[in-house]
Amino acid sequence: MLRTAILGVGHHVPSKVVTNDDLAKMFETSDEWIQQRTGIKERRFIDHVPCGPSDLAVPAVRMACERAKIEVSEIDAIIFATLSPDYTFPGSGVLLGDKLGLPGIPALDIRNQCSGFLYGLQVADAWIRAGMYKRVCLVGGEVHSTGLDFTNEGRDVAVLFGDGAAATILGPTEDANRCVMDVQVHADGSGAQLLWIESPASCQMPRITHEMIDNRSVWPSMNGPKVFRWATSKMPEVAQAVLERNGVTVADIALLVPHQANRRINEFVAQKLEIPPEKVIHNIEKYGNTTAASIPLALSEAIGEGRVKEGDLVLFAAFGAGFTWGAGLVRL
Ligand code: UT7
Repeated sequence: MLRTAILGVGHHVPSKVVTNDDLAKMFETSDEWIQQRTGIKERRFIDHVPCGPSDLAVPAVRMACERAKIEVSEIDAIIFATLSPDYTFPGSGVLLGDKLGLPGIPALDIRNQCSGFLYGLQVADAWIRAGMYKRVCLVGGEVHSTGLDFTNEGRDVAVLFGDGAAATILGPTEDANRCVMDVQVHADGSGAQLLWIESPASCQMPRITHEMIDNRSVWPSMNGPKVFRWATSKMPEVAQAVLERNGVTVADIALLVPHQANRRINEFVAQKLEIPPEKVIHNIEKYGNTTAASIPLALSEAIGEGRVKEGDLVLFAAFGAGFTWGAGLVRL
């Protein structure tokens, strides 16, 4: 039976490090508050413009191809998960294809925020198992720093996010011991307004007005405590469901790679699933929340650090705006 293997994973973050103390010079916050509530110590921001997620993705894809031992020219489809596309349209996937020198290959953008990587993984897995493509490049890439409100009004959100990209190369295999075993994703749009950017909006006439800028609806807004409660309920629920339907127990898991939104959320998820702390990857302290990039970025680092090896069972879990959430099980 045809399955999907993760052949290589790579990542790239911009060189500019922004610490919590740097943010505290811009608005009222503190290193202590940010670390206590989120676990974040620093994040990366782009150091020049123009620089979009498609630019950050180029070195990430090259690294993933090197690890997969394939040429970039072998990629035959791109899936780009992002909530901060370079432009409203066209998508970041087509820009990436051009920057990689891959004219003509299809490129699909996925707009499912922090769960975007898992939605993309499910699509890539279906494409490969159907025999449509042989080398799918799945990217999560974000540039948040150009769209945050660095004032007291926006501080609850501005401290959370960072820029970065990560890429995976996926290809067909018949080896059931080295494949994507399962991906389950969900959505509930009743939570849309609890974490969103309200403007500009194509449902408004016109889409953008001075008033929207003045009333700050152009910046991301979040009801943090409500999102926190949803995340700590849905992430363990979907992770447990994926484990159960594959007949896997937590003892079989080598590493939990959760979306990095808040260290406290991930500690809670691990505790609820009874996964011991040494089997959970956290890198939010270095990068903040990189939304669609966070799971492949953490996986790429885990592979680089030797925390996981070929054949290991890895569990992914994510929750994000939409709301969207999901979990995945992969044997590396
Ligand atoms: O990846 C997408 C999914 N996103 C998430 O999963 C995020 C989920 N939510 C969270 O992680 C947490 O809700 C936050 C980290 C965002 C906030 O932590 P919290 O413990 O829920 O804090 P809070 O929003 O209840 O705010 C507590 C206090 C408030 O002050 P008062 O009303 O108690 O006087 C805020 O005004 O902290 C204040 N506050 C800040 N203080 C210093 C909010 N932001 C900041 C800040 N620095 N940056």
